[in-house]
Amino acid sequence: MQPGLCQLFLVLYGLWMVTARPSEDAAAASPPDDFPSLPPILHPGYFSPDYKGNMIPGLVSSWSPNDPTNVWELSGLREGDIMEDGPKSRNVVSDPESLWADATIPYILEPMFTDAERKTIREGMEMIQKDTCFKFRPFRIGDMDFVYIQGGPTGCWSYVGRQGGGQVVNLQRAGCVYKGVVAHELLHAAGFFHQQSAADRDEYVFVNYTNIQSGRESNFDKYNESVVSDFGVGYDYGSVMHYSRKAFSKNGEDTLVPLKDGAEIGNRDSVTDKDMAKLKAKYGCSEGSEVTEAPSNYGTMMFEAGNQLLSLFVAPPN
Ligand SMILES: *[C@@H]1O[C@H](CO)[C@@H](O)[C@H](O)[C@H]1NC(C)=O
Ligand SMILES: *[C@@H]1O[C@H](CO)[C@@H](O)[C@H](O)[C@H]1NC(C)=O
Repeated sequence: MQPGLCQLFLVLYGLWMVTARPSEDAAAASPPDDFPSLPPILHPGYFSPDYKGNMIPGLVSSWSPNDPTNVWELSGLREGDIMEDGPKSRNVVSDPESLWADATIPYILEPMFTDAERKTIREGMEMIQKDTCFKFRPFRIGDMDFVYIQGGPTGCWSYVGRQGGGQVVNLQRAGCVYKGVVAHELLHAAGFFHQQSAADRDEYVFVNYTNIQSGRESNFDKYNESVVSDFGVGYDYGSVMHYSRKAFSKNGEDTLVPLKDGAEIGNRDSVTDKDMAKLKAKYGCSEGSEVTEAPSNYGTMMFEAGNQLLSLFVAPPN
């Protein structure tokens, strides 16, 4: 089929799907047999039996950008927002396997996001993409690895690095859809850990264990240089990946104190030049690129997979 026809087919099919959806029969909403299937989301997020999730949605949705903490510190996972498939798996930033091919993350946005939310999510992507070769582009048939951005009520979280197959980034609609928070979670997906877990962090910040909630001390672990690298760029107080002063505080006192006078930590608004220098070094490339933006409703289709309603956001052909 010609690309134009193929597109038309996909769009018409998408419209048919959407209008056909109210059907009582879930089977009616599955794609036709010859429709290319979405690769499985192999990493949908894992919540251990002792995960205490019932407080999270409320904590996250009542967060405001003026709060002293970062919202992603509130998501109840390791270091707040780092998703892992099990207690033992730890994917590391220096592992070449965790890199994205062509420095590109194909993404699918869950259909529940509004146009305004989609715009904010794209702005988060743009911050990263504008001055680096790193790219986000809508999923295309044939992509094996991709990020599925969903808005469920489980806080803000991401895996660190490419996991293989589909992997979820969660941006709880109430609380996480801010461009700086989006950039933070997407930088995790690109392979970033938190700044203060760097091996040399004790030269830059004091961790005041007296003020840390009991049981949360391991959130302040450091990783050695074989696990994380700063590519010679150096410690960055201003990083969008840095904890706030009051991260995991049990008493409202500082848990992290910059050793340099006047240094500010806890940025949740924008990426820094150093963040981007590390991303470029990690992916070995430097030039910026245009954001490829598909119209928000381009070829979006929804279908049932298992008991999940998935949307397939089909990009225009090359
Ligand atoms: C650590 O926190 C305690 C309690 O707030 C405070 O008394 C102490 O001075 C802090 N230590 C440093 C080195 O900031
Ligand atoms: C660095 O950390 C990794 C993972 O925890 C560990 O396997 C390795 O032995 C450590 N290397 C050094 C030099 O401490």
